[in-house]
Order: sequence, then structure tokens, then C-alpha cells
Amino acid sequence: MDFNTVQLKDRNLIMLDQRFLPNKVDYYTASTKEQVFYAIKEMVVRGAPLIGVVAAYGMYLSYLMGEDLEKTADYLNSSRPTAVNLSWAIKKMLKAHDEKRNLLLEAKAIHQEDIDTNRKIGEYLIDILGEKRNILTHCNAGALATTKYGTATAPFYLGREKGIHYKVYADETRPRLQGASLTAFELFHNSIDVTVITDNMAAHFMSKGKIEAVITGCDRVAANGDTANKIGTLNVSVIAKYYHIPMYIAAPTSTIDMSLSNGDLIPIEERDPIEVTSRFGINTVPIGVKVLNPAFDVTPHENITAIVTEKGIIYPPFKENLEKIFLL
Ligand code: MRU
Repeated sequence: MDFNTVQLKDRNLIMLDQRFLPNKVDYYTASTKEQVFYAIKEMVVRGAPLIGVVAAYGMYLSYLMGEDLEKTADYLNSSRPTAVNLSWAIKKMLKAHDEKRNLLLEAKAIHQEDIDTNRKIGEYLIDILGEKRNILTHCNAGALATTKYGTATAPFYLGREKGIHYKVYADETRPRLQGASLTAFELFHNSIDVTVITDNMAAHFMSKGKIEAVITGCDRVAANGDTANKIGTLNVSVIAKYYHIPMYIAAPTSTIDMSLSNGDLIPIEERDPIEVTSRFGINTVPIGVKVLNPAFDVTPHENITAIVTEKGIIYPPFKENLEKIFLL
């Protein structure tokens, strides 16, 4: 079962509305840059690669409206700050426009590149996992966060084609529950063995030897390998290191930001406290109590075993080896 996370039909960008999953399969249609901005900001679509593809189509829609693309670029770039794929895709669209190339073709190329990239990442991850079958993932770096296969989930989909069956543990991922509502949804509907655990259960299952490797996605990797991903990834990395469990980051090169020397420089999105206080339609925190809600954290490169890109597997020392991959 493939998920059409985004599809351009004439002047309409049709997106699977992930806010309603797993309860309702609904679509959100955008034909203006304001609607595209809304879809990214309100997380109709989310996940670094998907945000990039949607932004590329958003630039195309804005071009069709005869708008100033530099202004649209600034506007769309401000929708979510952490995932660098957003500005990466927007920059590509601006360049194509400057070079008087066809913007529809450029957006479609960015879309296709996502699919090809994820497949390659999946193949490398299958190699690196070897005989390991019990894998923990955090948040959703799945087909729903991309346009096909996902990044962290790519080995599960490709593995199934090759007769390799993984057992996946999906962290629930507070506060928005992307692991429970999205990763579990897509893997379950594709007949991949998935078990949801709450975030605070990871150490327990690691201590019992139930988890052999961790794979997560990422929103931005700095030049030294420090990696921003969904809040809670840092916790998982610390526990994995304690139990000597390898931690792999599935990273399209479009998510690597060589302009930032380290993870302290990655902007961390702060989201509305309501995501923490009333997720289940009722208040779970007394009204008036202070709440913090950073959407991402940074895993230091020391906690990462390897960064798996479409161009190959990168091991420490990350600073030197990340540079090399961009010379390929
Ligand atoms: O806030 P979200 O749901 O956009 O966060 C998503 C993640 O953190 C993913 O792990 C990351 O974007 C990689 S998706 C292939």
C-alpha cells in the first residue's frame, strides 16, 4: 500500500492530511503559497523530505500566480525552522528560476530524487543491519514523512521485497505521537511487524536485549555529525550508547547542512504548549502551569554509530567523512 503524501493535479497540490491519522484518511488541497505555508506550519504534512517536496511545489504554484519568488522563498522558509530540506528545495527552485529552467520539471525532479534517495538509503541500511532484526525507531521517518519508502523505514519496506522481515518497535513520540499514529499506521497497513511502546519504555526493552539497533531520521545534520531530530531522539541515543546498541541516522544528503559547524547552531522549533497540555481533547496539565515544547533535540555525534546517506555509509570521524561525501 503506497501513501500518496503529495500529488500535483493541475494547479492543486493535494496532500494527505496527517493531522487526522490514524482515524481518518483525508486530503488537504493547496493552490496558493498561503495554503502551502499553512500545510507545513500546521503539520498537515511533516517530515523533513516531504516538507522539501511540498515547498518546491509551493514555489511552482507561486510562480503560476505571477508572484515574486524571492518573497515567496522567504515566506515559505519561515514556516518551520529546523528541517533544512525546506530551504534546500526552495534554493533549488530559485536557482532553476534564475536559469530560466522549467519550474514544474524542477519540482518533479526534487520529488523523484526523494524516492530514489530513500531506496538507496534503505539498501545501505539493510547492509549495515546484517543479521539484526529487532529495530527501534523514534517519531516518523517513514513513507508518510517522504514521498515513498521513508528514510529510517526504507529497510523495512525493501527488506520485505527481499524476504527479510524486521520486527519494528515504534516509540510513541510525545507530544504529537507521530510514532504511534503515523509509523504504526503505515507499517501496519503494509503488513510489517510493528509494536508501539511509550517513549519511557525504550530503556526497559533495551535492557532486556529486545532491541538490536536504533534507526531514526533527521531534520538537520551539522558538519560535525551532530544531528537534530524529533524531541526524544537524544534520550534514545543516550540509552542506546549505555547498552552498546548501534544508533544509525538515515540522512538524505539534502538534510546535511555543512554551513553549520555543530549542532548548537541548529535552530530548534518551539511549538504551541497546547500540544503538551491537551493532546487528548482534555487538559492533562493544570491551566496556567508553565510548559515547554521544543519540537526537536540534538544528538551529539559521539552517540551516533553511522550516518547512512544515499551516497554511502558515513562513519566517524564525521567531520572529515561528511566533507568527503560532498566531493563525490
Ligand atoms: O515534527 P515532524 O513530525 O516534522 O518531525 C519529523 C522528524 O523528526 C523526522 O524524524 C525527520 O523529519 C525525518 S523524516 C524522514
